[in-house]
Amino acid sequence: MFTEDFLLGLLRAKHIVVFTGAGMSAESGIPTFRDAQTGLWEHYDPHVLASPSGFLANKALVWGWYEWRRMQVLKAEPNAGHLAIADLMSYSERLTVITQNVDDLHERAGNRGVTHLHGSLHKPRCFDCGSPYTFPVGIPDEPAGSRRLEPPNCSLCNGPIRPGVVWFGEPLSSTDWNTAEKAAMECDVFFSIGTSSLVWPASQLPERAVLHGAKLIQINPTPTPLDSKAHYHFKGNVGEIMPALVTSLAEIF
Ligand code: APR
Repeated sequence: MFTEDFLLGLLRAKHIVVFTGAGMSAESGIPTFRDAQTGLWEHYDPHVLASPSGFLANKALVWGWYEWRRMQVLKAEPNAGHLAIADLMSYSERLTVITQNVDDLHERAGNRGVTHLHGSLHKPRCFDCGSPYTFPVGIPDEPAGSRRLEPPNCSLCNGPIRPGVVWFGEPLSSTDWNTAEKAAMECDVFFSIGTSSLVWPASQLPERAVLHGAKLIQINPTPTPLDSKAHYHFKGNVGEIMPALVTSLAEIF
């Protein structure tokens, strides 16, 4: 599946960036944002569930939805693709992981310093003063019956705790964006994995990398706007392709 030239090029890379989207976690059973709107949630407008005004209008509904999604992540495990990306660290001088996902599966696979461009389900904060909130350890009991759940209150200012994700109408964290953009411009290999490359500004990163001389490698079973720009396109699931790639690297290392 991989030519020797391709593998040697990877081994020579000084800085590899791995940029991931919802498809990365699909094989762990984590639904995409839109797929998560099923069952009890299917009648809600995404802008109600994922915007500051939606939260202020119905805090228990929004907090309940994000807690339901967080529970799904806590019960899930990193898949073979996440583990292979962590293994890639053994074959590169520097590996930077940038994700649009709000789960912590890259970290649980072993990657450190992951940039979460769209925030994290695991880092809530006060809506009013921004102080971080720490969840109790473990998987809480699911609220019985209704999925509505009142958010906790901030221990400093008593404001409502909100999910630590980036909502519609909110800017990305400038620190996270600058880290991602710098890595894209500095790297010599950029993997785009499991993302439709449609959501701005994250979708700019692969092109930014190519403009600055990086080789672009895409892993995705379906077509994306990046197809014509990628130097290599592996059509398939990351949980199969990434482990095969790491095995091939180990053989010629
Ligand atoms: N392996 C690789 N790619 C996969 C797999 C898989 N096993 N399964 C699905 N995919 C691909 C799909 O073909 C699709 O191109 O993952 C992509 C998922 O696309 P989106 O659902 O649009 O996810 P993403 O690109 O991460 O969306 C960006 O939009 O919904 C918002 O904020 C949310 O972070 C998200 C952002």
